[in-house]
Amino acid sequence: MRGYVLLVASVAALGGLLFGYDTGVISGAILFITKDFGLATRLQAFTISVVLIGCMLGALTAGGIADRIGRRSTLFAAGIVFFAGAIVSALAPNEAVLLWGRFIVGLGIGFSSVVAPLYISEVAPADTRGALVSLYQFAITIGILAAYLVDFAFASAGQWRWMLGLAVVPSLVLIGGMIVMPESPRYLFKIGQGEKARSELQRVYDDAAASAREVESIEDSLRTKSAGLEAFRQPAMRYVLFIGITLAVLQQITGINTIIYYGPQIFQMAGFASASASILAQTIVGTVNCLMTLVAIFFVDRIGRKPLLYAGLAGMFLALSTLAYAFARPHLSGSLGTIALGSMMFYVGCFAFSFGPILWLLLSEIFPLPVRALGMSLSTLANWVGNFLVSQYFLAMIALLGRPATFSIYALLCIVTILFVRALVPETKQELLEQIRVRA
Ligand code: BGC
Repeated sequence: MRGYVLLVASVAALGGLLFGYDTGVISGAILFITKDFGLATRLQAFTISVVLIGCMLGALTAGGIADRIGRRSTLFAAGIVFFAGAIVSALAPNEAVLLWGRFIVGLGIGFSSVVAPLYISEVAPADTRGALVSLYQFAITIGILAAYLVDFAFASAGQWRWMLGLAVVPSLVLIGGMIVMPESPRYLFKIGQGEKARSELQRVYDDAAASAREVESIEDSLRTKSAGLEAFRQPAMRYVLFIGITLAVLQQITGINTIIYYGPQIFQMAGFASASASILAQTIVGTVNCLMTLVAIFFVDRIGRKPLLYAGLAGMFLALSTLAYAFARPHLSGSLGTIALGSMMFYVGCFAFSFGPILWLLLSEIFPLPVRALGMSLSTLANWVGNFLVSQYFLAMIALLGRPATFSIYALLCIVTILFVRALVPETKQELLEQIRVRA
């Protein structure tokens, strides 16, 4: 892989790192914010969910912005928004300002969750595109893990301002990095700057023939000149959008964030004695999440997207069924803690090499260039809506249906996803980005 492409993808992946950090950090910080500002329960929940509202708005608008000002400038803007959000949150004199700060952070996450994978995918050569976009997911998991560790480090002194404020560091690196990064060659073609685009592509490919092949297929894809929301009037485009949105929602409703956001609570339900033991168990889960993403980076371009998805989803199904079974059997209560830790590690590990990275990869691949940014925007918006619903209603679901039924529903949805992928999702391994076709 060319060092140049790896560098470009790594800088863009910082958007993922901030996504992970800023979604993960609040779980520890909220305890101290609640104490300092004397928050009632409802306001406490809103402090957590206001980020997701920002994410939805950010994701919804990101595609249009990326088409107007370019991928590079949008990611640069995301860096500025992350920076501003971190400063406002960390220095907030009262709850109202803090809520604004967290909302701004959410906007940054929403922007980068659309534009970072889009940009990486558009810069990457076909044979390493899977690994490079998976790098973005890897950065998300590093961000989540870093957030757990930072929370842990500042917990004894209750310094929530530092927890939220530290996000300025990667924001500044993202801002600085995007100043010197190139624009996506695909975007340059789209806005008619063919010469510049060609020379960008030559930096990506070793051999001139490969770069010429890319140019040809990009120019070809731009000949079908329907862009913007109008394009989704065509049945073929609506069909791709349907696949993108459904996959994005499935990634959330198979339950990943019940474990990422509520892990410590689940460990306590399973009988872990102390809060600190639960938090420690959660860092183990975070480490597994991070390390297992490497499996995707190594295999996604060799084995392909669909086989990895099948394997991962089958594992997630097994882990969730085990968890449901263990919660349903009172005689297992003695070993429930161990079973819970084991199945949650297994579940997260399986997600990490499959649905985690491959969702973002597929979303960046299945839409034709004229509607790519908008298609990603709408699908990513659906991902955030799914995230919002699961994270808002998980505890209520447990109270209403019980633990075994709740985890069984998530398990069943893993099977639904396997069937969906088998029936409708194309294998995109090694294909030139503009030659990927979704056929009805
Ligand atoms: C998902 C996030 C999740 C993260 C966990 C991402 O792919 O979109 O919702 O928190 O993976 O690693």
